Amino acid sequence: MKILIIGSGGREHTLAKICAKSPVVESVMVAPGNGGIAKEFSTSKLDVESNQEILALAQKKEIDFVVVGPEVPLCNGAVDILCEAGISAYGPNKSAARLEGSKAFTKDFLAKYKIPTAAYGNFQEVEPAMQYLESCHLPVVVKASGLAAGKGVIICSTQDEAKTAVQDMLTGSSFGESGKEVVIEDFLEGEEASLHLICSGESYVPLPMSQDHKKIGEGDEGLNTGGMGAYAPTQLVTTEMLASYEKLIVRPTLAGLKAEGIDFRGTLYIGLMLTQTGPRVLEFNVRFGDPETQVILPLVAEDLLPILISSALGKKLPEKVDLKNQSSIVVVLASKGYPESYPKGEVISFPTTQLPDCEIIHAGTDLNSDGEIISAGGRVLGAVGHGENLQLARDRAYALCELIKFESKYYRKDIGHKEFSRK
Ligand code: AMP
Ligand code: GLY
Repeated sequence: MKILIIGSGGREHTLAKICAKSPVVESVMVAPGNGGIAKEFSTSKLDVESNQEILALAQKKEIDFVVVGPEVPLCNGAVDILCEAGISAYGPNKSAARLEGSKAFTKDFLAKYKIPTAAYGNFQEVEPAMQYLESCHLPVVVKASGLAAGKGVIICSTQDEAKTAVQDMLTGSSFGESGKEVVIEDFLEGEEASLHLICSGESYVPLPMSQDHKKIGEGDEGLNTGGMGAYAPTQLVTTEMLASYEKLIVRPTLAGLKAEGIDFRGTLYIGLMLTQTGPRVLEFNVRFGDPETQVILPLVAEDLLPILISSALGKKLPEKVDLKNQSSIVVVLASKGYPESYPKGEVISFPTTQLPDCEIIHAGTDLNSDGEIISAGGRVLGAVGHGENLQLARDRAYALCELIKFESKYYRKDIGHKEFSRK
């Protein structure tokens, strides 16, 4: 089989590595890919926001199966276009992708099917939003309904801050079209965990629960980022707890989607807040998390590709996958300054020998004219460690972090800190 992976980040590098291991795979192409991916796989220039370019590339390269990584092409209907042309593609169709593309749609869906989530209001007009805010306890959470690359959520500790956030979103000045509708919701307290499922209608396979580290600074301080590190599995969620989330959240969600005429195929990533009174859905994403993918997929002991294909074809999925009895951790190496402005174009030096149970995953990298790998984004690389337990995985990932060198290298030294302070 010829596989095409759409996207350019660490998630897509990991997906490419996983697909390449499958015995049924003849070749893997990543488009557009990045500098490190290009050293390992064939790549092709691509505007992921153009469905026509995606289709043309898949046809030109005679691709058998496309895996669409990021949310933007999924929300644009890339899977619909490919399927109409007779090319199988992994991921939800445009209608199903609204679970990520519209937070307002998702909140109404959750309320309709009585799936636990924070109390909320959706607004397109300033006046009713301001009135609703008056009745809210502080802090209150203001969200741009549309896609905002993880930046559209503002936790407001004063009424003035909340009013300004709402005003800026609804007038389009802060998040453009994505902010023209806002969700205002109650602030929830608890620990966050991510549940990834591969779905095919009401049939699904859960993957190991993970935790992401969204803040730039140690101790979870500072600005929100796309994710500075992640680990899996987490001891926070026991088998019994997972079973209760499936009953309370997963099955009602997939049944509700079916009742709405939505056949959900692809990854459903459920962002959960584990509150003292039970789990609440914070958000749905309709694709694998980044950097969660880098730690979740390597824990799967069997060939994942047949499961992705069954999902894309709408076939019934196995109830579970075989998992390795180990832990994985990824530490993101960013450019100092991220998530604000940061330098690019720095030459990166890598360890000369491959460290055991470690992987270097490329995210924001490119090649210069000499073929050297240079930094080209905020999140540059992921240092992944695997081990029989999380401590070993952590030690390996951090040893790797030290051996990779570029001038503005910045990484959090406390990835996994919550797990290590449990018990
Ligand atoms: P979202 O994109 O909706 O998951 O929000 C991004 C991040 O904002 C989440 O991972 C949480 O850390 C935080 N967040 C979102 N909604 C809430 C909420 N209702 N209460 C507390 N924190 C929240
Ligand atoms: N790491 C968070 C996300 O992929 O949305």
